[in-house]
Amino acid sequence: MSRTAPGVIITGTGSYTPSTVVTNEELSIRVDTSDEWITSRTGIRERRFAQEGEVTSTMGAKAGQAAMESANIEPHQIDLIVVATLSPDMNFPSTASLIQHSLGLRMVTSFDLSAACSGFLYAVEVVSNMMRSDSYAHALVIGAEKMSPLLDWSDRGTCVLFGDGAGAVVLSKTDDTSHGVIDSYSGNDGSNPELLCLPGGGSAMPASTESLAQKQHFIKMNGREIFRIAVRWMEQSAITMLERNNLKPEDISLIIPHQANLRIIDALVRSIKIPKEKFFVNVDSYGNTSAASVPIALDEARQKGCIQSGDYVLLVAFGAGLTWGSTLIKWH
Ligand code: ACO
Repeated sequence: MSRTAPGVIITGTGSYTPSTVVTNEELSIRVDTSDEWITSRTGIRERRFAQEGEVTSTMGAKAGQAAMESANIEPHQIDLIVVATLSPDMNFPSTASLIQHSLGLRMVTSFDLSAACSGFLYAVEVVSNMMRSDSYAHALVIGAEKMSPLLDWSDRGTCVLFGDGAGAVVLSKTDDTSHGVIDSYSGNDGSNPELLCLPGGGSAMPASTESLAQKQHFIKMNGREIFRIAVRWMEQSAITMLERNNLKPEDISLIIPHQANLRIIDALVRSIKIPKEKFFVNVDSYGNTSAASVPIALDEARQKGCIQSGDYVLLVAFGAGLTWGSTLIKWH
């Protein structure tokens, strides 16, 4: 990117989580599990599940509306819409396309981005670079997921982990290059897709009587292996971002990690030596909402007053792919 490229700042944040709260105790009526097992292995106490009629696009639209209100941006000012999701309403048209219409936005460039739980960070990277090199002034970037229909209730190792929700930001172009999205880093290792995937419903395995009987339309995960790899790539993403921006751990005011598992976050605390008080954690309330987890947490952190002007905020995520990434923001 040229030295004269404009800056891109977060002018607004928003989130939406469904009102239906499902506690670990409630899950243990349906699944052979317990509050004690889920809490001690994951830190999750409850999650939200979408109600009848709530889908990824409706939740994403609510988060997007809230972000525009917080940015004080009118819908007609948005000229780019990107939705990070692994649970789109349908294969096509995109969820971004559905949200463009439902929010009454102009007929602007709109597309979905698929990078699982790292999707929101990938989207911020792609959108901020598009904004720096093109005429876009204000973009709506949304992470939205309806994970609940993708859960196999006979697989207690995965069905207790996930929840539904959406988070969003408005990114705006500015002449101020010293604040906003300072740097983005991302990567992917596609060598072991089976570690975390949803095999059915794509071109490799279209829906069939067999695929339904074999439960191929649900999330499949090797939890132990994902745990190990997640810690490594979250750590590497955070350290890379600090090193290439000449920052020390103490320069970071707030770190918002992907909310998958408290033990993964604890491992990151130990390895990158940023004190735990600087980690924003809400996995206890929502479980893993995939691409929605970081923007939901970012919105909560902003609303709780955890972010001040001039703060360095570090976002870190990993997800299926396996994908990973980090984003460095200097709050304006
Ligand atoms: N309740 C009670 N017991 C359970 C449950 C449950 N919900 N799930 C598994 N167990 C049992 C297992 O059957 C096993 O019993 P056994 O020893 O008698 O065979 C025992 O608990 C240990 O199972 P493990 O799978 O080894 O448990 P582990 O300590 O690894 O924890 C967990 C499992 C929580 C899934 C962990 O591996 C993890 O969090 N992994 C990371 C997952 C993750 O973050 N995924 C999101 C990726 S992001 C994205 O892109 C979607």
